[in-house]
Amino acid sequence: MFEVLTTPIVQAPMAGGPTTPSLVKAVSDAGGLGFLAGGYSSPQQFEQQIIEMGDRPFGVNVFAPESHRAEDTDIEGYRKALVPAFTQFGIDTPTLPRFTDDAFGPKIDIALRHRPAYCSFTFGLPEPRILSALKSAGIVVGITTTTRHEAVEAERCGADFLILQGPGAGGHSGQFDQSAEPNGTPLPDLLDEVRSSSALPLVAAGGVGTPGDAAGLLEHGAQAVQIGTRFLTSHEAGTKSCHRRALLEGLYTETVRTRAFSGRPARGLRNEFIDRFDADAVVGYPQVNAMVGTVKKAAGDDPAWQNLWAGTGWAECREQSAAEIVREFAEHLNTRRPSAAGRA
Ligand SMILES: Cc1cc2nc3c(=O)[nH]c(=O)nc-3n(C[C@H](O)[C@H](O)[C@H](O)COP(=O)(O)O)c2cc1C
Repeated sequence: MFEVLTTPIVQAPMAGGPTTPSLVKAVSDAGGLGFLAGGYSSPQQFEQQIIEMGDRPFGVNVFAPESHRAEDTDIEGYRKALVPAFTQFGIDTPTLPRFTDDAFGPKIDIALRHRPAYCSFTFGLPEPRILSALKSAGIVVGITTTTRHEAVEAERCGADFLILQGPGAGGHSGQFDQSAEPNGTPLPDLLDEVRSSSALPLVAAGGVGTPGDAAGLLEHGAQAVQIGTRFLTSHEAGTKSCHRRALLEGLYTETVRTRAFSGRPARGLRNEFIDRFDADAVVGYPQVNAMVGTVKKAAGDDPAWQNLWAGTGWAECREQSAAEIVREFAEHLNTRRPSAAGRA
């Protein structure tokens, strides 16, 4: 399944700017597996990035359509709560954003045309016919899951591998139902739970700061470990400068899960925006994301107003190249578990 990896490290797709083709190339060329982030990009940008990857192994990631769609009335209350923010930046109160599926269908067509080695999904389960089509095209398909129940459903739907995302993960929770309380089961326990009922390869994600963290997850039955936050401060990442600074200079001291920025639970550094608006936030991705986006755009590079996504291992972030990060993990993991990549 992951024979291409010389070290069992997968770079997490990070939509919204951080994942660049250079980052994906650097990780894959260093012996890990890079994933392009299809989320938020236009189909044209998505296709262009795939073409740029050449013939090296890599994966693409797509947001599955939301199963829970918020009504306008749900979003309206939060829009009222955000009025002081609109006023502060001199922007008009935005009209209620429409629900979109992030061009899901066109992105699947592009994946089918270009046939990357891997395709992963987050935010839910695509229809089984889509998984079948991708698999028939020779693409290995993974689904992000956050509970044992979701893992069972993903396996039933035809996933080739599961990404188990634990509560320490930076960015959005990939939970299938955005309106549910996010699962708090620690990642090693989640691995044990899923391993006891599934033989599928498992990729563990969430809160990995050090090679020791990764080794612990491999010992709990993961075939590979997916890392996001550590790559945010790599040279190749397209992370916003205030986000980088917040991670590297310790502008904030802790991470929390919040719906304040997007309506879907996500973990990030606890900043002023979260402190002011978390209590009023509602379920409602992607409409809330678009609405808050108007404030973020007006606020520019001020970390107080940006979503500073970060997992619980964020304090290990350093300025370094992506290859150095992969090597740091490889040296430790390949020494401790010489057969780890081979077993995958
Ligand atoms: C900035 C950021 C953006 C993310 N975007 C995506 C995404 O587009 N698709 C996805 O499947 N996961 C996304 N994630 C979640 C990661 O796949 C992964 O679960 C997480 O980064 C692992 O935890 P860690 O950040 O503590 O390493 C994102 C994470 C971060 C930090």
